[in-house]
Amino acid sequence: MKIKGTAKGLLGTITMPGDKSISHRAVILGALAEGRTEISGFLRAGDCLNTLKNFKMMGLDYEEKKDRLIIKGKGLAGLQKPGKALDVGNSGTAFRLMTGVLAGQKFITKLTGDASIQKRPMQRVVEPLRKMGGRFSGESAPLIIFPGKLKGLSYESPVASAQVKSSLLLAGLYASGVTSVTEKILSRDHTERMFKLFGVKLKTDLLASGKYKVSLPAGQHKLRGGVKITVPGDLSSAAFFIVAALLVPGSKLTVKNVGVNPTRTGLLDILKKMGARLTLSNKKIVSGEPVADITAEHSALKGLEISGELTVRAIDELPVLAVAAALAKGRTVIKDAAELRVKESDRIKAVGEMLRAFAVPVEETADGLLITGNPGLRPEQNIKINTYYDHRIAMAAAVLALLNKKETTISDDKCIETSFPQFEETLRRVLK
Ligand code: S3P
Repeated sequence: MKIKGTAKGLLGTITMPGDKSISHRAVILGALAEGRTEISGFLRAGDCLNTLKNFKMMGLDYEEKKDRLIIKGKGLAGLQKPGKALDVGNSGTAFRLMTGVLAGQKFITKLTGDASIQKRPMQRVVEPLRKMGGRFSGESAPLIIFPGKLKGLSYESPVASAQVKSSLLLAGLYASGVTSVTEKILSRDHTERMFKLFGVKLKTDLLASGKYKVSLPAGQHKLRGGVKITVPGDLSSAAFFIVAALLVPGSKLTVKNVGVNPTRTGLLDILKKMGARLTLSNKKIVSGEPVADITAEHSALKGLEISGELTVRAIDELPVLAVAAALAKGRTVIKDAAELRVKESDRIKAVGEMLRAFAVPVEETADGLLITGNPGLRPEQNIKINTYYDHRIAMAAAVLALLNKKETTISDDKCIETSFPQFEETLRRVLK
């Protein structure tokens, strides 16, 4: 993708493709349910389409009707041995959640993914799943998963990870006894919300220690059919448009029907603290998830310290928040974000390189970034950005490119298709 930052602003009203986390979960729970699940707004992008294909290889039947995906669930015991290895492509969420499901099957499977997946840490799910009785060939992709007889586990997760939590809760559906996961900071809770839609009872507790505990009581071995899910627009995709509108003078942009689950809205809280003019309207609950329209107007931003719970609630948006920080007055410190080192790419390194290409003073630390912003940043030179084949780096670079009057070339932008195939087209539509 090549971008010249000559726009007079981003204007209009847009919608986003469906939420990636929720789309994965809708297919997985739908496949395990007793009967039909109707999904509207399913994200038809690389990562989630791979999940659908993988379940099809295990016997899942589905139909696509306009905006709806109708899944004919197989029940918890109804999946079949796939004819070949299951491949999640670029998706860590799919890999880790499916590991939990596959650990409870009566057949052997091989689970793999692309070069990035083969480097990412999977022992964070393999280790607790082994404690539940799961049997695996190793600790990383490709992974062979052998049939196991699972029992419940009370697990204290060392990382605030929704993928770990969800993997164990999914395995818990196949286990005897109670399965519980405790975390210091509440990670995204889409699995818990969706379990409830499928009639699975969960107990969630805020402990005296301040930790969060979610428990799946014993004997929950059935997901009901007949569930209808409307997937909200993905806030992680909207983030690029929200930040672009804040940074480019003359902008006023509304993104409609975006998921604003509080475990995901660190981006909005951080931007508001930085001085962003953001308004949320039409708030409602859809399929158990809060949804709103978000309007962003060009704003003068100031630097901020981002750490702890704010970091966790904005983990996928930190690359584009670093772009906002580059144009903010003063210093921004991003801390407690070591997880960025093991995402689709090493995002601390990739963001550091991207900002340096735009002559933004930036320091990489073990768990974050120090960025010295400049509200007047307007480079006028041809710049080339290496995306490391990471969709969120590519889209964050496109936002920064809107401030460069000359041409910015973003390499390997095909990776954007994993989460947002219509990104460039949508961007060109709102640029005036
Ligand atoms: C996700 C959880 C997060 C997030 C990822 C999606 C999910 O990862 O970064 O993009 O859908 O559960 P971790 O669980 O590794 O924090």
